Amino acid sequence: MIDAEHANFVQRNNNEGLMNILWATKKYVPDAHITTLATMGEYGTPNMPIPEGFFEIEYEGMKDTLPFPRQGGSFYHISKIQSTHNVAFACKIWKLKSTDIHQGVVYGTRTEETTTRFDFDECFGTMINRAVACAVIERPIIPYGLGHQTRGYIALRDSIQCITISVENPPEGNYRVWNQFDECYRCNQIAEIVAQVAWSLGLKESIRNIENPRIESEEHFYQPHHGKLHQLGFRSTTTLLEELKIMFNDLIPNKQRILERADKIEPKIKW
Ligand SMILES: NC(=O)c1ccc[n+]([C@@H]2O[C@H](COP(=O)([O-])OP(=O)(O)OC[C@H]3O[C@@H](n4cnc5c(N)ncnc54)[C@H](O)[C@@H]3O)[C@@H](O)[C@H]2O)c1
Repeated sequence: MIDAEHANFVQRNNNEGLMNILWATKKYVPDAHITTLATMGEYGTPNMPIPEGFFEIEYEGMKDTLPFPRQGGSFYHISKIQSTHNVAFACKIWKLKSTDIHQGVVYGTRTEETTTRFDFDECFGTMINRAVACAVIERPIIPYGLGHQTRGYIALRDSIQCITISVENPPEGNYRVWNQFDECYRCNQIAEIVAQVAWSLGLKESIRNIENPRIESEEHFYQPHHGKLHQLGFRSTTTLLEELKIMFNDLIPNKQRILERADKIEPKIKW
């Protein structure tokens, strides 16, 4: 949502990347199982529960099972919707196999195996990561608008667990969709929990709701389903509180590096 050049880049990069994988799979490894990382953001915030990819609908006396409508909130999300269509189509016509994981907002600084890249800017940073970055440098946590926007969240280590489950359990059919998140929170709830942890560590904490730079529903219903992964054995291995303690522990020694880039936190891009 920066400008035409960035919007075009994200659409090309996301879709050409996946298209290359689909065509290469068809040509070289047509029996492979592709796990794609889609996003819960594709669904938007409809005023009804969100199923895992498909729902049964009755219209003018007829019934069918159809893809649940996708209503992305940015050109990035629209590119992900296109990717979902591309992979579903390839599975249908070429009989490729895919698990399309609609992932919630990821947070965390590490997994068992590694520490990870940590983004806290307005483009790549996600809500919890950004809130912790603010708290570590003792600047206000800044939920957008009313802060009532609700989303599904998952810790990075559990996101990896879900991907592992997908890889180890290929689908029987050709194409399936999973919703992958652990718990839903409002932005204000996250700000409060992060502030509490910061306070317990002796950091000066505050929350300042700022003007929302995005055009989005701030008050909305949100009830996505996420049972399929649990049926295959997914169990969350951490809680938001436990993970936040690990994040603070990892980030406090890097406080100076965050301070040097603190101008990247306040949003400047408008929808
Ligand atoms: N981070 C989240 O909260 C979140 C939530 C939902 C879905 N997702 C999805 O999960 C996936 C990973 O997200 P992330 O946050 O880890 O992003 P990221 O930017 O940290 O990682 C993306 C990775 O893809 C690589 N990449 C980008 N373009 C590429 C290309 N053309 N060819 C090969 N590699 C390329 C990058 O180098 C990077 O290693 C994305 O598909 C994203 O849409 C992320």
